[in-house]
Amino acid sequence: MSSVVDTTQIFKENLFAGKVLLCSGGGSGICRGMTEAMVRHGAKAVIISRSKDKLEKAAAEMRQATGGEIIAVAADVRKPEAVENAVQKTIEAFGRIDFLINGAAGNFLAPFQDLSYNAFRTVIEIDLLGTFNLTKAASEHLKKAKGSIINVSATLYYTGLPYQQHAGSAKAAIDALTKHWAVELGPHGVRVNGISPGPIGSTVGMKKLSGAFRRDENGGHSSIPLGRQGETMDIAQATVFLNSQGASWITGVTLVVDGGCWMTTAPVNYPQMVLNPPKLARL
Ligand code: HXC
Repeated sequence: MSSVVDTTQIFKENLFAGKVLLCSGGGSGICRGMTEAMVRHGAKAVIISRSKDKLEKAAAEMRQATGGEIIAVAADVRKPEAVENAVQKTIEAFGRIDFLINGAAGNFLAPFQDLSYNAFRTVIEIDLLGTFNLTKAASEHLKKAKGSIINVSATLYYTGLPYQQHAGSAKAAIDALTKHWAVELGPHGVRVNGISPGPIGSTVGMKKLSGAFRRDENGGHSSIPLGRQGETMDIAQATVFLNSQGASWITGVTLVVDGGCWMTTAPVNYPQMVLNPPKLARL
């Protein structure tokens, strides 16, 4: 993904000058766009994910595109010692953490009978435990900075979408954490919110999941109330807003940014898709 994510035409340019963002999953897709937008508003950023090479490349590209300071730290969010190291590296490099985005996630379509014990556990560990681990590791720094946390969620469980129980249940629990942390960290000056993105073009998630959703015969998006597929910019704008003083009395909220999509999205060919599920290619 290399398209420009620039929200400075809408929000003040130096909004986050002197502030520091730590973002898991920031090397690709939506979270890379969220990071790029924050950096264009003056934040310094540390991005983390498992793949060091991919991460270094993304950081270099974003530095070039924005002129900002972005460093890459390889860490598997499932491992507490790895995220503690990432937090330590952030402090060594930039001295503080004002913003945390929990975006690292894993997902795939899997009918119930094809979802192994290990597959379910893997997604719960990446999404849910990863969110807990990184937040716990960064929490004292966020309190010190009176910062803001954004947990990246999903609307999958609102309607019980088939083939998505692993990700859906992880995201439901993440939404619970958003509320628990809003209550427990609010008195320390930390705001905690979530963003639930809808289908965002050219992301890994979209490539992996779009086969399960109903679309128009011509492949269009007229079933989305706002009539179009999302862009990374849509999520970036919500991110900048929630991290800004414009949201200074907003906490414990998971903001759905999906053009109204979850209310009208239906599974493809239900109930046959669960009675006679196809053999799905692994993407
Ligand atoms: C069924 C699968 C599978 C698939 C893996 N598994 N892919 N089962 N269908 N397509 C099973 C494996 O067989 C294994 O179980 C277990 O899951 C763990 O797989 P590993 O490959 O060993 O795990 P790991 O290397 O940790 O990989 C995790 C991953 C991977 C989730 C499977 O795809 C990944 O890390 N992806 C990261 C990027 C990603 O998915 N991004 C999309 C996020 S989209 P067994 O039993 O064989 O050992 C998103 C958006 C949500 O979150 C909603 C948007 C609207």
